[in-house]
Amino acid sequence: MVSQTLREARNYEEITEKKIGEGERPAFHLSPRVGWMNDPNGFSYYNGKYHLFYQYNPYEVVWGPMHWGHAVSRDLLHWEYLPAVMAPDMPYDRNGVFSGSAVELPDGRQMLMYTGVVKEPQADGGFKEVQTQCIAVGDGTEYEKYPGNPVLTEKDLPAGASRYDFRDPKIWRETDGTYRCVVGNCTPGRDGRILLYASEDGFHWKFLSVLVESRGRFGEMWECPDFFELDGKAVLLISPTDMMPKGFEYHNGNGTVCQIGTLDREKNVFIPEYDQAIDYGIDFYAPQTTLAPDGRRIMVGWMQNWDTCNAHKPKGVWTGQMTLPRELSIRDGRLIQTPVRELESLWGPKTEHRNVAFADTVIRLDGISGRKIDMELEIRPGDVENIYEKFAVRFAQNEICHTAVSFRPHEAIVKVDRKFSGSRRAIIHQRRSQVRDQGGRVKLRIILDRFSAEVFVNDGEHVLTITFYTDQAADGISFFADGSVAMDVVKYDLMV
Ligand code: FRU
Repeated sequence: MVSQTLREARNYEEITEKKIGEGERPAFHLSPRVGWMNDPNGFSYYNGKYHLFYQYNPYEVVWGPMHWGHAVSRDLLHWEYLPAVMAPDMPYDRNGVFSGSAVELPDGRQMLMYTGVVKEPQADGGFKEVQTQCIAVGDGTEYEKYPGNPVLTEKDLPAGASRYDFRDPKIWRETDGTYRCVVGNCTPGRDGRILLYASEDGFHWKFLSVLVESRGRFGEMWECPDFFELDGKAVLLISPTDMMPKGFEYHNGNGTVCQIGTLDREKNVFIPEYDQAIDYGIDFYAPQTTLAPDGRRIMVGWMQNWDTCNAHKPKGVWTGQMTLPRELSIRDGRLIQTPVRELESLWGPKTEHRNVAFADTVIRLDGISGRKIDMELEIRPGDVENIYEKFAVRFAQNEICHTAVSFRPHEAIVKVDRKFSGSRRAIIHQRRSQVRDQGGRVKLRIILDRFSAEVFVNDGEHVLTITFYTDQAADGISFFADGSVAMDVVKYDLMV
């Protein structure tokens, strides 16, 4: 049964999407059908298609009453909108259908697990949001909320767990057919931690363990956990709020962390051995992964961040985007991300320039321009005895605007900079990342799609993601060297 609230949302999105003209949204990154989008939810492969749901307020271009929007794709690049699947329409989720995930049941139906939010009046006249975990089951288009909701409540919390910060279940099926989920939580003192639950049938859950605790390591509340095996290691992705920077890591305020370690299966405890930021740019949060049918672990993130999202005032009726889906692996103990290989199916005309040598100047190259491109640069010193000071590539460029990626080999620092992208706000426009020192060599793969750049450094060892809203006619690209640089450029126009 489709509730009145959901019916209204579906009506609204169908009518309002007509106001978005051709070319006014990203070409191959998912944006909301209308209104506001944040976290990816329920990312899954189901019945022959990838499903990507998202935190969704159809009615406004700001965060509001949370619904789940829905899109499907065969190749992770061409997305087709389906009607919104859930609205805040039940007593246990009336103030928000928050983030969650998806799993296929043995009978072929798909189960969505999400956080239901209810505002509880406080003695001081204010409100606090009580959060519980809920379930809906469906066929890939229509989903029914489970009559036994909520399935995890405060009675399922271990001692010292906040019932106001208990959200974002990530569900999966074990090889023995039973279910597990991890849920983000924190203590009343705001120390983040991850709770692990188990279920025989996906509907009835019991608390297993505190999988891992922050103990002051990473920010406050740990949002949007994801936990999986990758290349023989256990990997935990989290999005902690209120982080403090450490060296070149964790500069985003609301940041993202990848912890790599081992799982003690007796105690159900995760033992982290290593941590890093997931993305080193400005616009990235709340990533979620799924397994592709061929075994690839694929991650997609919200290509925005709570710290900067309100600075961009959209002119139209949509705001927010997802990142390009990225294939994950572990190399030399680090998380490696590469654009999904499906991107190659969009490759159109190729422009190639080998051994371009230039020094202390700005150059342009024949055929190198565009706002929907996949461009790889291999940079090396023109003179190994005297390594250059700085290399930069500028794109989305006209007489007034540009956005830049630069590399300083002596410090091994890659920087993204959008301060001249047309922004009129004094928000954070630059971010730096320290990459592997290779004596002045660096590889930069830059994916542009109308309003974003994703920069994959040294075959995915670091990724820097930024959004910008420069006029689409600004499609120039130029290269700058302080000192002597030699480079190879291979650029494909992306045909979407
Ligand atoms: C993360 C988050 C989640 C929550 C959702 C609400 O960005 O704060 O913790 O479920 O957004 O929209």
